[in-house]
Amino acid sequence: MAEHDQDETLAEAGRKLFAREARFTAAVDKVERLPPMSGLEIAFAGRSNVGKSSLVNALTGRNALARTSHTPGRTQELIFFDVGSTFTLVDMPGYGYAAVGKEKVRAWTQLIRDYLRGRSNLVRVLLLIDSRHGVKQNDEEILDLLDKAAVPYQIVLTKADVPKKAELDAVIEATRAAIARRPAAFPEIVVTSSRAKDGIADLRTAIARLLSERGVALPTVEPRGEGA
Ligand code: GTP
Ligand code: MG
Repeated sequence: MAEHDQDETLAEAGRKLFAREARFTAAVDKVERLPPMSGLEIAFAGRSNVGKSSLVNALTGRNALARTSHTPGRTQELIFFDVGSTFTLVDMPGYGYAAVGKEKVRAWTQLIRDYLRGRSNLVRVLLLIDSRHGVKQNDEEILDLLDKAAVPYQIVLTKADVPKKAELDAVIEATRAAIARRPAAFPEIVVTSSRAKDGIADLRTAIARLLSERGVALPTVEPRGEGA
């Protein structure tokens, strides 16, 4: 198949995949309570308030599947969602500042690190970076951890509706530079806005491609007739 057709097929498979039912399966606050590893997992990680839960909702087309809030520290556990009985999405608590006590932040940080290092069915981490701020020191720490543990990750810029075009371009360039020499980083950066629904289809396609590469059966796409 020509590359272009293949991209279209994956885009369509991604769209169909996320049109399937997504449902909450578990919320976990301690590494000992993680569900057994079964099927493939993709986790959403990033600083508090970067827009992880909003992106889970935008991808699944469900406004209130994952809880969101203006106040950093909304997601307080690892939240597992089954997507179309095909794979698992994991919405993570944010790292960095949160409007909760220091003890809690310390406990989450430990949970995040333990989960990211020790989950063999975790096929990719989507590491969200706020396009208004770029990569910060605590992002670098998580990138270090993922590189050391050889957990593949892909950078997703969020809230791309906020910065002006020139500012956004500068952040994209700086982010590219920040991951250029990182071994576990996927080179392609996805630029998204959950609010404007930008980049959502691209992210669905990227996830469909990843799952397909891992041998997961995706929703089938009707082959188009000659000349259709
Ligand atoms: P924690 O669970 O606290 O770590 O936060 P989170 O990363 O899950 O962020 P969440 O999705 O709760 O969103 C945080 C805030 O950012 C909310 O006020 C959202 O409305 C806002 N937000 C999320 N996505 C976007 C976006 O694409 N554009 C804009 N402008 N705001 C967004
Ligand atoms: Mg959240």
